[in-house]
Amino acid sequence: MSTVRDWIGSAHHIAVLTGAGMSAESGVPTFRDAQTGLWAQFKPEDLATEDAFRAHPRRVWDWYQFRRDMIAQVAPNAGHRALAAFQQRHPGLLTLITQNVDGLHQRAGSTDAIALHGNLADDRWLDMPRDCCDPEFVEAGHPPHCPTCGNLRRPAVVWFGEMLPLPALDAAQKAANGCNLMLVVGTSGVVYPAAGLAHTAHRRGARVVVINPEATELDVVADLCLHEPAAQCLPTLLED
Ligand code: APR
Repeated sequence: MSTVRDWIGSAHHIAVLTGAGMSAESGVPTFRDAQTGLWAQFKPEDLATEDAFRAHPRRVWDWYQFRRDMIAQVAPNAGHRALAAFQQRHPGLLTLITQNVDGLHQRAGSTDAIALHGNLADDRWLDMPRDCCDPEFVEAGHPPHCPTCGNLRRPAVVWFGEMLPLPALDAAQKAANGCNLMLVVGTSGVVYPAAGLAHTAHRRGARVVVINPEATELDVVADLCLHEPAAQCLPTLLED
């Protein structure tokens, strides 16, 4: 722990990559854990792909609505808050990159968090918007849609098989290339291109620290692994 604190103290740029484990102590279930009860019968491909949405728009929309309602009831944890407070005390020193769509970093005050997989709170048009498509004037429904042409609103998150938003990916890659310390928090490191950011940082000579109670796929590029939960570890690591 004290070694990592020294690395943080002397870093000229820090990148932090977070995953579902970051929000575990807020009570947000991981993607798979969210498929409980009514939703347990579905596979991720039944709920988080464009094909699934086109085939069963109501089912997919309602699942996202269920997750949105769940997230509205939780709050950022001490780990989210420690990262946001560090960014406020050291403007420009830390780039926060998250795979999470729960918006908890943003609610904790990390307004410039790079949301690689989008944000659960946002919607967008399913098909290329036409002149009639105005997000201000949608017809309510499951999902809401354009009253004129029927174009559907969909959650603005990255589904399986979809490209990451390019500006977010570019910014994340720039941070991975330019940092000399990367903290990898609460991610299993199995989903690419996000996990590739840790490989990039390592290849470019940055120190990589994995913070996760369990072993991960990214331990191979780590200079140090802290086997602790994020909300306990980050406040101690990041206090001045
Ligand atoms: N603190 C830190 N890490 C934790 C904690 C905690 N309190 N609790 C669990 N973890 C770790 C687990 O050990 C695991 O390694 O969080 C990790 C969660 O892994 P995943 O569920 O695979 O989540 P993630 O890596 O974010 O998945 C990436 O896959 O499902 C898609 O698009 C979705 O963004 C997601 C992506």
